[in-house]
Amino acid sequence: MSRQKIVAGNWKMNTTLSEALFLVDGILSKMNTTNEVTKIIIPPFPYLISISNKIGETEHISLGAQNCHTDESGAFTGEISASMLASVGCSYVLVGHSERRCYFNETNEELIKKIKSALDNNLKPIFCIGETLEQRQYHTHFTVISHQLSEVLKSFTDAEFSNIVIAYEPVWAIGTGETATSNQAQEMHAFIRKEIAQLYSQSIAQETTILYGGSCNAQNAQELFSCEDVDGGLIGGASLKADDFCKIAASF
Ligand code: PGA
Repeated sequence: MSRQKIVAGNWKMNTTLSEALFLVDGILSKMNTTNEVTKIIIPPFPYLISISNKIGETEHISLGAQNCHTDESGAFTGEISASMLASVGCSYVLVGHSERRCYFNETNEELIKKIKSALDNNLKPIFCIGETLEQRQYHTHFTVISHQLSEVLKSFTDAEFSNIVIAYEPVWAIGTGETATSNQAQEMHAFIRKEIAQLYSQSIAQETTILYGGSCNAQNAQELFSCEDVDGGLIGGASLKADDFCKIAASF
């Protein structure tokens, strides 16, 4: 069974508009467009429309956003809804990134609503999960991941879940330069797939794309992506360099 392979670049709160457009130009000129990997760029909100216009007709690069609000519209000053994102050309949205869970106190209840809103607007949520260093040191990482999955995913039907991508991002590996070893990544991805099989079914679990994120770069991507249950990566720092991002997308 061949699962959708994805490499997504999460730019976080980086780049000015001109830097962002320069980066997109670099990615468009260097990207291998023949392999069957879905490449997603996830820039800051203000640049989405300009980048959407730039990548326009190309089917090789998709656009994603870093977050969305739980509601469709209304008096939520400063917030951005899934329908707005869809209207400017996004097809993916990150939900539950550890930085949002940690710094913005996002709860499972909110994440469920965000995923629902994304799905209602034909956006594919990339649902992020991951344990902290302390949780791994206390050997509670499997329990933590199991809860992060079940508490949110129990709210979705099989059909809804088929549009959700999972990203396993151990918090201790994000932005630290310390990557999970391929053994650690494979072990957790296989566990996540087993949990999905229990929540949904074996065949749905086999079709689910599970990305690895956390200091994944042009040097280590190939080894990580060669693991049976790793279907690509969610890339932070290394996605800010066109060369590196394109190399990572060619690392299967
Ligand atoms: P990193 O970030 O690649 O810089 O570790 C990954 C992420 O947070 O999505």
